[in-house]
Amino acid sequence: MVTGSARTYLTCPPEYFQVAYAINPWMDPAVPVDTELAGKQWRRLVDTLAGLGHTVHYLDPVPGLPDQVFAANGGFSLAGTVYGARFRYPQRAAEAAIHRRWYEAAGWRYVTPTAVNEGEGDLAWVGGHLLAGYGFRTDPAAHAELRRVFGVPVVPLRLVDPRFYHLDTALGVLGPAHVAYFPDAFDAASRRVLRRLFPDALIADAADAAAFGLNLVSDGRHVVLNAEATGMAAKLAAAGYQPVLVEFSELHKGGGSVKCCVAELRGGPRG
Ligand code: ARG
Repeated sequence: MVTGSARTYLTCPPEYFQVAYAINPWMDPAVPVDTELAGKQWRRLVDTLAGLGHTVHYLDPVPGLPDQVFAANGGFSLAGTVYGARFRYPQRAAEAAIHRRWYEAAGWRYVTPTAVNEGEGDLAWVGGHLLAGYGFRTDPAAHAELRRVFGVPVVPLRLVDPRFYHLDTALGVLGPAHVAYFPDAFDAASRRVLRRLFPDALIADAADAAAFGLNLVSDGRHVVLNAEATGMAAKLAAAGYQPVLVEFSELHKGGGSVKCCVAELRGGPRG
């Protein structure tokens, strides 16, 4: 039986969510978005996380920032320190300062990045390694900064499929040293690295990845993921996890799912 542990998360209500521009292949401003339904689906997600015993914090949504709901992109935290975000596209640039203010007000040590990076969108902490996706959003120059800031091994992984432009669309952390990933989203060298680090990983297929089945939030036991990802849910259950499905049709139109909406806070303000 896999065991879980209580987590702390930072989220942002999709109050002003829209697909107003296209910065990833899933976004089409011509497709209508039901912002109210997005809000209901998001509420169900945060209630689910709270119901599992986790602590959920909220950012204040700001008009004019339709992607702010994707809170995972605002930073990466470990042991009381946060490495802030610096967004690739100008449409999202103003989100970084909102995260910064939140962390500073809560007493975290905040490090301003010089390199472009989109926080947990491209960064995953697992088994003492900081996995670092790059190729679409994060500048590899962030990797050296991350090594300096956190003093941990940083493992660069090159993403090659534009549909899976952030690491968290192609790889999900399930447990202390366990991941699920879609191999074809990575280049050959990165696939070798992943095989070596995680010989017992759950391997997702193209359908799992396209259903955002890897964009999951796990506490080590319960794995919250998009309801469309039925194949992934079956694989998780077979591996001893408890899949918890949430409907996420609206935020899907922004090119994100469950994990994109949730930044994990590791270590607390005084870490
Ligand atoms: N529309 C957003 C963007 O393209 C989606 C971000 C998804 N976030 C994530 N962590 N993958 O920036």
